[in-house]
Amino acid sequence: EHNEIILAIETSCDETAAAVIEGGRVIRSNVVASQVESHKRFGGVVPEIASRHHVDQITVIIEEAVEQAGIRLEDLDAVAVTEGPGLIGALLVGVNAAKALAFTLDIPLIGVHHIAGHLYANHLVEPLTFPLVALVVSGGHTELIHMEADGRYEVMGETRDDAVGEAYDKVARTLGLPYPGGPHIDRLAHEGEETLTLPRSWLEAGSFDFSFSGLKSAVINTLHNARQRDEKIPVENLAASFQASVIDVLVDKTIRAVKEKQVNHLIVAGGVAANKGLRAALKDACGREGIQLTIPPLHLCTDNAAMIGAAAHVQYQQSMFSDDRLNGNPGLTL
Ligand code: KG4
Ligand code: ZN
Repeated sequence: EHNEIILAIETSCDETAAAVIEGGRVIRSNVVASQVESHKRFGGVVPEIASRHHVDQITVIIEEAVEQAGIRLEDLDAVAVTEGPGLIGALLVGVNAAKALAFTLDIPLIGVHHIAGHLYANHLVEPLTFPLVALVVSGGHTELIHMEADGRYEVMGETRDDAVGEAYDKVARTLGLPYPGGPHIDRLAHEGEETLTLPRSWLEAGSFDFSFSGLKSAVINTLHNARQRDEKIPVENLAASFQASVIDVLVDKTIRAVKEKQVNHLIVAGGVAANKGLRAALKDACGREGIQLTIPPLHLCTDNAAMIGAAAHVQYQQSMFSDDRLNGNPGLTL
């Protein structure tokens, strides 16, 4: 049987990425051009700069992905692309490149939800076994999702304010750390101790929703008060205390979700899944509870196109194709 070869494109935020995926699981190539250096001095992603970089990079990155895969464009069976959510100007670059390729090669076009991509990054590591629960933690999303089958998503809970990665980045900024701050806080947290008890936002009993803006404010207030009293709180301890609060809530709610749905498999996705403290805490909890845990390696946790190709494979098998009306959709729902 012929395993289809899909070219996947991802441009929803600040990475221009293209990958060639065979049969949904084999990574023939996975090229990512990060723009992070260009956004650093602004302390966050600037949409206009992101769009311009994508325009600059997209053809080169696609050519590189095809070349590294050792194929010709004529070998492709489909072109997949992130259609949303994300920055509209950034999404449009990928969507239009994909449409042009699919049209000229006369092959199917597959619009993919960015979060479906993050979830299917796990499928590149280990085949998904249903039913399962997924914890999605990125710069734009914090969600608990129940999946009963390929392509079926039930959102059990989500953040009511900041995404967890966003909270990391904002706290890092207050601590004077460079963007993106998540990895810096993670590193510092391991050098410090939880000397401060920061709030845990559990919300209503039984809720699977999250809230991180209160915690972020608590860190800012703690710093402010200490400065006024001319006290010094070691930044390592502040990072450790913040990270402990985040991990407590994420792990507790995730394990509760797994139990409520009586599933055996937990998958984790999104850039914050790269967090060493979170990975260790989830590993511990899943070990105790006898839950199978899959977390992709770091380079498949952060934005990439291989994950989009993996998610597109499911849609390819189900002939869920897009037509030439495909458009960037910043508010696309799962
Ligand atoms: O999934 P992603 O690459 O992009 C989005 O779709 O948002 O996630 C990026 C986010 C950033 O907020 C970044 O600070 C965070 O993931 N991040 C981390 C770590 N590595 C990346 N947060 C905490 N600890 C880390 N080690
Ligand atoms: Zn992402």
